[in-house]
Amino acid sequence: MIEISFLDVKELPADMPVGLLACEGGAIVGGDGLAPALRREIAARAESEGFRGKVEETLSLTVFSAGLERRILLVGAGKKAQASSEGIRRACGALANAAKRRFEAMAFHPAGRVQEAAEGMMLASYEFSEYKKPEPVRLKGVHFLVRGAAERRRAEKILERARLSCEAVSLARDLGNRGPSDKPPEALAQFAQSLEGNGVTVEVLGPREMASLGMGALLGVARGSARPAAFVHLAYRGPGAKRKIGIAGKGITFDSGGLSLKPPAGMETMKRDMAGAAAVLALFKILPRLEPKIEVHGFCAFSYNMPGPDAVKPGDVLKAMNGKTIEVLNTDAEGRLVLADALSFAVRQKMDALIDVATLTGAAVAALGPKVAAAMGTDRALMRGLMEASRRAGEILCELPLVPDYKDWLKSSVADLSNMGRVRGEAGTVIGGLFLEEFSGGLPWVHLDIAGPAWSGSGEGYVAPGATGAIVRTLIEFLCR
Ligand code: BES
Ligand code: MN
Ligand code: ZN
Repeated sequence: MIEISFLDVKELPADMPVGLLACEGGAIVGGDGLAPALRREIAARAESEGFRGKVEETLSLTVFSAGLERRILLVGAGKKAQASSEGIRRACGALANAAKRRFEAMAFHPAGRVQEAAEGMMLASYEFSEYKKPEPVRLKGVHFLVRGAAERRRAEKILERARLSCEAVSLARDLGNRGPSDKPPEALAQFAQSLEGNGVTVEVLGPREMASLGMGALLGVARGSARPAAFVHLAYRGPGAKRKIGIAGKGITFDSGGLSLKPPAGMETMKRDMAGAAAVLALFKILPRLEPKIEVHGFCAFSYNMPGPDAVKPGDVLKAMNGKTIEVLNTDAEGRLVLADALSFAVRQKMDALIDVATLTGAAVAALGPKVAAAMGTDRALMRGLMEASRRAGEILCELPLVPDYKDWLKSSVADLSNMGRVRGEAGTVIGGLFLEEFSGGLPWVHLDIAGPAWSGSGEGYVAPGATGAIVRTLIEFLCR
């Protein structure tokens, strides 16, 4: 990840390239430390080159002023009034991408937007390098320009926060991008174990403990795989914490569909199916340094979904930890099964509020695409808190209704519930939410279906192709308020 440090504008070396944000209409944002004549020249050159200042548009210039030559890299930040946090993040991501093969070092004036600028640059420079050497990059670091020691101190604090959130997002991306055979449930549980310390406790349950707790739904999903399931309970107790928030994550380390096998194309990116649990692990990696004043519990249900010889079969009935029986009509609706036990376990831990994060339904991808997560829940305040947090993080949540009349669609003639809606292809995402509600124990609860945003096929802006680390920054924002 790109190194960001601070440099007082008075110390800006004469030969250092400078990155600048420019709005539509040519107004340069920040740029202190540059002589007014130089600023005017930059604006004039940008105009003559046809630079419009649209978000992510870049323009490289060499300008001469007072006998000096300076490289300038302009990036568009959109309309001035709309230079939103997300606009700044995207612009700075594009700036870092444009600079990384050109310069060894670059100065940049963050113009009071240190957090978004740093996030954009750091996230844009993420690269998954577990299986191949990272691309050579010339850019060693970006120097954010500040004025005086007081401003530097303030900016350092904000930068530290941005570094933490990018560390968490990068971890979630790394875990999601890892090949499915290289992240069996036990390995991820072992990784979770390594997060213990500094106020975080970790408990790992194996199949024997799960059986004695009655986690028949999670165990049922794991039956098709040669590798056993693993359940992880993490806890962080912040200073002076009064509220206990539980976050459950779907951790399907590969979703083949099980006996209700997916077609080949549908499996290509199903290593992503543990993105919910990856977000939870990523959060716990940084919670001790983030220090929110709240108690946070993480619940990760890890399993493969495979069609092995003993796999759960359509028609089988599983019993979840809360005692409810579930007729499995489609083994590809496995996420709700493992979450049924994760939520039941969480309810037993007496949370004040519950959130679950899951790549739950293809229907959410169909409805909302790769940029938007679906949100459903039983508590207005919790929903509002998450919505506001997502806005600050530049992620998009769209609330869907938990339509009471659709509850009937989950009826089974042999069990308390079926794991599939009655009508295939109708309201699949809502049905997933309604199913999970049955395991939320009446607690304030919100379900986040991140099936779309967890993955980016082509990459875009500050998001590289592959696992995106979606929802991590929203959860961070939520826990810090
Ligand atoms: N992991 C999938 C959902 C998914 C699909 C996530 C595409 C990301 C991209 C989930 O386990 C699944 O297969 N859901 C089924 C449910 C259906 C059988 C009721 C689906 O969406 O088709
Ligand atoms: Mn599935
Ligand atoms: Zn799945």
